[in-house]
Amino acid sequence: MARASGQRHDTRLDRYVNHYADRAMGLRASAVRSLFSVASRPEVVSLAGGMPNIVDLPLNVVAQAMDSVVMNQGAMAMQYGSGQGEPFMREKICEVMALEGIQAHPDDVVVTVGSQQALDLVTRIFCDPGDVILAEAPSYVGALSTFASYETDVVHVGMDDNGLQPDALRAAVAAVKASGRQAKFLYTIPNFNNPSGITQTLERRRELIQVAQDLDILIVEDNPYGLLTLDGDPMPAMRSMEADRVIYLGSFSKTFAPGFRVGWVLAPHAVREKLLLAQEAAVLSPPVFSQYAVAAYLDQHDWKGQIVSFRDMYRARRDAMLQALEEFMPPGTEWTHPAGGFFVWLTLPEGLDAQAMLPRGISGRVAFVPGNAFYADGFGTRNIRLSYCYPTPEKIREGVRRLAAVMNQELELRDTFGLRGNTGRRQIDHGAPGPNVQ
Ligand SMILES: Cc1ncc(COP(=O)(O)O)c(C=O)c1O
Repeated sequence: MARASGQRHDTRLDRYVNHYADRAMGLRASAVRSLFSVASRPEVVSLAGGMPNIVDLPLNVVAQAMDSVVMNQGAMAMQYGSGQGEPFMREKICEVMALEGIQAHPDDVVVTVGSQQALDLVTRIFCDPGDVILAEAPSYVGALSTFASYETDVVHVGMDDNGLQPDALRAAVAAVKASGRQAKFLYTIPNFNNPSGITQTLERRRELIQVAQDLDILIVEDNPYGLLTLDGDPMPAMRSMEADRVIYLGSFSKTFAPGFRVGWVLAPHAVREKLLLAQEAAVLSPPVFSQYAVAAYLDQHDWKGQIVSFRDMYRARRDAMLQALEEFMPPGTEWTHPAGGFFVWLTLPEGLDAQAMLPRGISGRVAFVPGNAFYADGFGTRNIRLSYCYPTPEKIREGVRRLAAVMNQELELRDTFGLRGNTGRRQIDHGAPGPNVQ
């Protein structure tokens, strides 16, 4: 694959195969996207996708907001804008972040094309090929794709039911140091982790910040789901406890709508400056019309009330999934109990392999994402991510029933032919640094 190794091979005929940068040769379709076409067949219940359920958004309100933007501010809204994002948008973003205890100045915010682009910019300014990123395990597949596209090495850090483990973090940092390298940052999703649904407790957040201070680690806090809490109030963000070494990523994709592609980064001054330069190089300015549209929606609609109704809708779906799992899952299956967000993380009974089971799942008319999509190092084969955000509660129940039927068939095969190699430990227990630490 690398240039030095001579002729490159690709799976398709591509006359440009020898022209690409090495980083382009490493790009892979995400497992979630590959599943999209089968999972969206009408006969399949998809517990695979993580699309926010925005059918309850009042479209008349959104239409009015759009209308007022075009009629009253059209010439500005359709122009190029500030590379950092429009000042009014950055002010609103600070109001949103205040709901999770963050005191921030609009000058320290850079608006991005979704938080996905924030991940890209952060990786771009910090990482050279071969650099190490510490990432909690399991981690958001889109972040792993971005990290791979910059040819970084991901070293996973284990979680337990209270989130990322401080001891595992210390061990991972020590192992990276012993290999003569430095971890550029720690990537974490403290609220309702995608894919596991696990949330860092307050105590855990404090401990992790202490470790970061002791070991001089920069934290990238990715928080698209924090306001979608289903039990109780939102937790204080890590950034609200430590301003100097936390880079915070936020998004309107889950609390309003993903199609506008408005997200942001809040970063310490010097980092903000680099992010801004990188943003200008990438897109000149983030989409101005989207920022006007989102700001008009926030001004003209009870957006906090809308988040409360999103929470009620997701809670009914989460409860339907947990009830169905309780009712249908075979013995030996474990799952998380998310207090918010979109996902439940299932650990299959010993001997079952999620990737191998997927085609049988699709034949059984249920789709899910095998857990290894959420690890950079091949772990997670005994796990699957189930999302409850999109289907109705009835569909969720039916999907879980079908999944249990597929698992029961797999268990029969296992019992007839014996364990097929996947005796894996509970793979969320990623306490030791991954095999890619040399
Ligand atoms: C943890 C996490 N981070 C970032 C994103 C990207 O979101 P967006 O680019 O729409 O803001 C997602 C989307 O699902 C996510 O789950």
